[in-house]
Amino acid sequence: MKNIVVLVSGGGTNLQALIDAEKNNIIKNGKITCVISSNPDAYALERAEKNNIKTRVLPRKQFPDCVSYSRAILSALDEEKADLVVLAGFMTILSEDVTKAYAYRIINVHPALIPSFCGAGYYGLKVHEAALSYGVKYSGATVHFVNEVADAGAIILQKPVEVMKNDTPETLQKRIMEQAEWIILPQAVSLFCQDKIEISNGKAFIKE
Ligand code: GAR
Repeated sequence: MKNIVVLVSGGGTNLQALIDAEKNNIIKNGKITCVISSNPDAYALERAEKNNIKTRVLPRKQFPDCVSYSRAILSALDEEKADLVVLAGFMTILSEDVTKAYAYRIINVHPALIPSFCGAGYYGLKVHEAALSYGVKYSGATVHFVNEVADAGAIILQKPVEVMKNDTPETLQKRIMEQAEWIILPQAVSLFCQDKIEISNGKAFIKE
């Protein structure tokens, strides 16, 4: 059984999708053992507590820079004996201290079809604002491994979602969460926990 540590910053609907998937046996061979939040007020912490999952708070604001924050996260991950780290709405970029130590063991969910609308500065509603302002007819979600470059690690799963004429960033965000993120994130976690993801030439493939 693999220890899954989930990093959050906000509402935690993706965390909830993982908790529900674990309960419903959609996640095989993995257990959420700890939730770490960069934000002391994140509602995600309440979701974890309601489900008797250990929580830790490492406020981003208490650290002067990304490198010192990342070192604190690295110590926490080591202490929790994380086999898999899931960034579920985690709004802080991690330095290479963490991404190298946990290479191909950190996955992130991004609310667009990478390589569109991704990288530094594209997070949360900003991603959907950019998609609407470009006028794309499909957006979606991507689950990928995390490496040294924001949103550039090997893609594990993607799912497209139609953009509607009258969408606002909020309505598009909701549809992408419901129709893509909450489905492919638990799927990718389960695949990882069953050792069903292989890496070849820096790309991720699902084993048959
Ligand atoms: C989700 O849409 C997630 O994909 C996005 O923030 C939202 C968090 O919601 N993450 C990013 O933009 C990271 N670059 P949640 O807290 O309810 O899961």
